[in-house]
Amino acid sequence: MLRLGLAGFGTVGSGLAKILHENRDIILARTGRDIRIKTILVRDLTKKRAVDTAPEVQFTTNPDDLVNDPDIDVVVELMGGVDTARTLITKALNAGKHVVTANKHLLALHGPELSTLAAQKNLGLYYEASVAGGIPIVQTLRESLGANRIERLVGIMNGTANYILSEMTTNHLDFATALKQAQDLGYAEADPTFDIEGLDTAHKLVVLTRLAYGKDFPLDKVPVRGITQVTQLDIEFAREFGYRIKLLAQVREVDGKIEASVEPTLVKYTYLLARVGGNFNAVRVEGNAVGPIMLHGQGAGDTPTGSAVVADIMALCRVLATPGAQFDNTGFRASNPENKPLPQAEILPADESVAMHYFRFTVADRPGVMAAIAKAMAEHGISIAQAVQKGDESGADVPIVFLTHKAKAKAVAETIREIDATSFAVRPTVHFPIL
Ligand code: NAP
Ligand code: HSE
Repeated sequence: MLRLGLAGFGTVGSGLAKILHENRDIILARTGRDIRIKTILVRDLTKKRAVDTAPEVQFTTNPDDLVNDPDIDVVVELMGGVDTARTLITKALNAGKHVVTANKHLLALHGPELSTLAAQKNLGLYYEASVAGGIPIVQTLRESLGANRIERLVGIMNGTANYILSEMTTNHLDFATALKQAQDLGYAEADPTFDIEGLDTAHKLVVLTRLAYGKDFPLDKVPVRGITQVTQLDIEFAREFGYRIKLLAQVREVDGKIEASVEPTLVKYTYLLARVGGNFNAVRVEGNAVGPIMLHGQGAGDTPTGSAVVADIMALCRVLATPGAQFDNTGFRASNPENKPLPQAEILPADESVAMHYFRFTVADRPGVMAAIAKAMAEHGISIAQAVQKGDESGADVPIVFLTHKAKAKAVAETIREIDATSFAVRPTVHFPIL
């Protein structure tokens, strides 16, 4: 028997309980352990729950009922938030309990500290569900691609944002309606700002960067832009050029320096990443031995995420079944016998990042404007690949869209600053990188 203390019984907690109940036989066959929930921590004891629990399961509002119970082997943290979750996990590890969590926000901020504590106690700290819901990307980076240097990782890692962009692109839904639907389906964070402003994706990118490179890339150093500035107009222009707009997380190693970003990005419609729809996520990893691989699956929701949580509990059971085994929660424990926090990554300055770009200028429709923009771009070394201007007889303000060849982020920023200061610029310029 393995007894769980479950903190949180919302979307993911319910998914976990459902899987443990419905797939009990297969889980038992694979682990040899009967995994049971003993106690569930919630805020509101009177709330009606989405899933029934066995009569012996106790509900509580006191976190100490999980931490101080000697019968509980594993604390499964599915509450979200940072401070309460951090305190609970710290207390659980100090009490000798293994921890499974889906909390990427907490891990992005305090992962190294919690991993260090877990390693000092030789306890499991598992977090497969924290990135890309049901997709096994944590296990893949830590174990399956362990023989590779990771050259690049590109991912769609927020189900809510991808659902909104997909609905805006395919069904021409407006932003607010699509967001409401994603919330009703249980994909969104308690505060959906994290989803739509790219912060949740950044949390996940920080977690994956540690697994890929064994280095810590501080969250506040990740350049982040969300999807609130993506309009129907940009989606249509991108489509005209043969692209879809996706919220992409990217990290790569350039001459020993690590470059990371989260931004709406144009992706050629023929690429697999462009075809990832709804709440699905996808992560493409380029390893120097394996080449490119891609994982695709549901990145949010009750049982997809619950599947990853149960997989972690089962992985924990396998280590527990091996006497004397050590838990390697970071994938780099062997090179860190003193259990120090991961070293900081050397960061490539965002200004030096190089990519092709999409620009949409909104300008007065008068002679010389197109030429002036092209001149400014040329002066900053930006070479135009394609262009379109959609004026009409009215002579009203007009969008001009350019797709460029590769250019440095610094040149892009300076060009936009210069154009936006001219008398012909009517609205701030919109720009996105192109994958
Ligand atoms: P949720 O539906 O809002 O459920 C949160 C649960 O935690 C609720 O049962 C709530 O109790 C309980 N809770 C919250 N704060 C608490 C506190 N201070 N003390 C005691 N109980 C507390 O959240 P969720 O969507 O399941 O997400 C849980 C975690 O999984 C988050 O870290 C989230 O980022 C992560 N995650 C979610 C998804 C997804 O698809 N939803 C996917 C991957 C990862 P009450 O029910 O009484 O209010
Ligand atoms: N809110 C997150 C998303 C949940 O939409 O992807 C999964 O981490």
